Amino acid sequence: MICHIVGARPNFMKAAPVLAALRERAGFRQMLVHTGQHYDYAMSEVFFQQLDLPAPDLNLEVGSGTHTAQTAQTMLRLESVLLDHKPDLVIVYGDVNSTLAAALVCAKLNIPLAHVEAGLRSFDRTMPEEINRLLTDQVADLLFTPSEDGNANLLREGVSQAKIHLVGNVMIDTVVRLLPLALQKWQRDHMLVQDIQAEKGRYVLVTLHRPSNVDNLETLCSVMSALSEISKEMRVIFPVHPRTRQKLDALGVVSNSSFHLIEPLGYLDFLALQRYAALVITDSGGIQEETTFLGVPCLTIRENTERPITVTVGTNILVGQNTERLLTEAYAILNGRIKQGSVPPLWDGHAAERIAEIIVHWRA
Ligand code: UD1
Repeated sequence: MICHIVGARPNFMKAAPVLAALRERAGFRQMLVHTGQHYDYAMSEVFFQQLDLPAPDLNLEVGSGTHTAQTAQTMLRLESVLLDHKPDLVIVYGDVNSTLAAALVCAKLNIPLAHVEAGLRSFDRTMPEEINRLLTDQVADLLFTPSEDGNANLLREGVSQAKIHLVGNVMIDTVVRLLPLALQKWQRDHMLVQDIQAEKGRYVLVTLHRPSNVDNLETLCSVMSALSEISKEMRVIFPVHPRTRQKLDALGVVSNSSFHLIEPLGYLDFLALQRYAALVITDSGGIQEETTFLGVPCLTIRENTERPITVTVGTNILVGQNTERLLTEAYAILNGRIKQGSVPPLWDGHAAERIAEIIVHWRA
């Protein structure tokens, strides 16, 4: 039996194609466990519906807490589940706290572990995700990487070549599958998103949730004033993550006629909005990849990225926390000076099939 463990929003679009690819291969019993790290409808359930993910067999309902509390709770609750169900293989995704917690439990119980999206490194150990990535990769038995840089990082860290498999990007599998549906929904809804009329190519899409950007109110204030400047040139649409919402409320930031702070969006609406944005400004990891695939300009408000291929090959530009740089690059793009990118190798919609194939042979 194969047990998939997911917990937070960016896990869901990665797990969906892998579950589907394994379902197509006879003989695999599968189980899906949700740790409950994300629990709001808009952060979790809507993704299950839109991605055709089966309802989780179990929800551990760990909820929010400090990183230690969240990781420890997940470990405690997961241990008894894995002891009861005795999976032959556990699959974890990405770099969230749930990923590391599950990886550690598997290591303690000697259960084989596969990590999807292995090998990514920002080389910034102040990021919680970097610690999650490093430790998960150290204990994984099968490491599925999205790009060559992932293989190089793992080999440098002493991971055996035999465990590493370059399969491409499973997140892009989901984009390839659902982009047509997202664009149909967009037409049907007359490009209305939460009462905001979004015209093709006439808005800037923003997401921000990294602790490094939103936890310090001074940093958040300066980013928000730069975004407010940009909104004088072009309408800004900003679906706000719950942790960012708490901080913006504390600052008293509210929407106006050209700067729209809206609720988090479901997968399909957000994908369509990305596709037709003039520019995306983000600190997310996955959005750097999705914009590269869609050929949409992306400015990333971070000093580093664990996804360097989006900069070297794709449409991404790192602007750091330098708001002057953010404004210069944003105005250049809005005035038509756009960095051309291409789609990295194996970001082709078939990564999950490659993973399933490797698992078939691994088991044999
Ligand atoms: C987590 C991941 C991050 C990922 C992000 C995507 C870690 C370390 N971080 O960050 O890598 O990019 O998810 O969204 O795992 N909250 C709600 N409702 C929810 C979930 C969270 O209100 O459904 C609020 C709570 O106040 C919570 C805060 O958001 O304390 C942060 O949630 P948490 O899961 O700790 O981290 P994220 O910032 O979401």
